[in-house]
Amino acid sequence: MCGVAEREDSVVRSVLGWYETNARDLPWRRPDATPWGILVSEVMLQQTPVARVVGPWTAWMDRWPTPAALAAEPSGAAVAAWGRLGYPRRALRLHMAAVAIAERHDGDVPRTYDELLALPGVGDYTAAAVASFAFGARHTVVDTNVRRVLARVAAGIADQPPSVASRRLAESYVPVAAEAPRWAVASMELGALVCTARSPSCGSCPIADLCAWRAAGCPTLAVPVRAAQSWHGTDRQCRGALLAAVREAAGPVPRQTLLSGWPELDQADRCLSGLVCEGLLHGGETISL
Ligand code: ADE
Repeated sequence: MCGVAEREDSVVRSVLGWYETNARDLPWRRPDATPWGILVSEVMLQQTPVARVVGPWTAWMDRWPTPAALAAEPSGAAVAAWGRLGYPRRALRLHMAAVAIAERHDGDVPRTYDELLALPGVGDYTAAAVASFAFGARHTVVDTNVRRVLARVAAGIADQPPSVASRRLAESYVPVAAEAPRWAVASMELGALVCTARSPSCGSCPIADLCAWRAAGCPTLAVPVRAAQSWHGTDRQCRGALLAAVREAAGPVPRQTLLSGWPELDQADRCLSGLVCEGLLHGGETISL
């Protein structure tokens, strides 16, 4: 084994060992989690932290334990159940994926990366994660946490944006098939719990001794990988407020009533049109899910 491969192997072993005793017990990681439950979790986790996903995921799986159960209901039910998870287009995409699974795959979540990728709203990350976590396949599963861990341990920098180089780096760490899914989830977990963006706990990191970033004195980035987004007053907040108002109303809401609940009329009008255009809300003078 050459030096680099040996170092990578030590990193993988140490992270796998750490995960054994430090993994959070999350419902979609349990042995009884179904491929559908894993797909739902991956879509929910894309832009929402774990702590906010556990409740809605559990309620979702109680209500729609299979893709066919969700596919049998109108998409508005999925949007309503999405609650406060944010980025509600994901609810529509998940509903579309459920319909495609029911129609094209006899109700079973498909097993391969290519079949998963062909589902509506499923991109590279989700296809690789589901093929790996649900079916044990060997894939490179890279989310922001994994990218940051590898930027630090291997490249000696605080973080790295998605790129061909960051992808290649991640590929070089994926162990043999029998260990690949565990490595994927363990490296994510290390990024989520220890090697965090703002306050890493290097003192309890299993790969601190192997970390190029730590050896370099933990240099900060000249330009942050992603500027912190302010939320107050944004279209995102406005869209969330409009959706919440319709969700919480017993039935259709007059358009004017809805618009008057937001301080900036033009912004509310534009956001409402966007939500109707995207199929997240329906109607004209009265609006419903
Ligand atoms: N376990 C499996 N997939 C996960 C994810 N995307 N985030 C956190 N924990 C996970």
